Amino acid sequence: MTPQDQLKQQAAKAALQYVQTGSIVGVGTGSTVNFFIDELATIKHKIEGAVSSSEASTKRLRAHGIEVFDLNGVGDIPVYIDGADETNANLQLIKGGGGALTREKIIAHMAKKFVCVADETKLVPRLGKFPLPIEVIPMARSMVARELVKRGGQPVYRDGFVTDNGNQILDIHNMDIMEPAKLEAELNNIPGIVTVGLFALRPADVLILAAAEGVRTLT
Ligand code: A5P
Repeated sequence: MTPQDQLKQQAAKAALQYVQTGSIVGVGTGSTVNFFIDELATIKHKIEGAVSSSEASTKRLRAHGIEVFDLNGVGDIPVYIDGADETNANLQLIKGGGGALTREKIIAHMAKKFVCVADETKLVPRLGKFPLPIEVIPMARSMVARELVKRGGQPVYRDGFVTDNGNQILDIHNMDIMEPAKLEAELNNIPGIVTVGLFALRPADVLILAAAEGVRTLT
């Protein structure tokens, strides 16, 4: 395991304390969350099950014998655990490197508490070095790309990638993300955009950040 993977695993382990007995746990997507799913399996008898933000996480949860519920049948999600591609000190995030941003945003919106798990490399002074993923309806891809160019971004089509929802991804390079919540709201209004990978209007509530010196929690 690489040193970075060890940090991801430590953050994932620390997130277990937020899981409520008897509850349905919201589970995100990505390599950090994969560690979390493996940890969750050690206490699976204490939870009712999970809701999942991707087919990949669903598969891993089920392989551990954790029941995965259809979100439509679930009323209450006390806690959602997910990773991030970048976070700022206000716990506003860029997500979607794995392409699961839409289902991630849906579950984050439903959850009472959103706990983000990450290694220290994810904490940045300003969001945007990581290209901003945007899920688009396929027929709108070029139009949306032109809208992003007008706003100073450089869209790159994630060629050959199809989301779990049957859509496509544009990764926006060099986007000026001075005001993340404002930009998220503005981009949400462009027809054809399904989801913007900015989680600023609904940021994380807790950030568990693992570094070589130890694990710290930001709120
Ligand atoms: C998935 O679409 C993403 O939002 C992930 O949460 C994000 O890319 C973090 O992934 P890692 O834990 O693999 O860095």
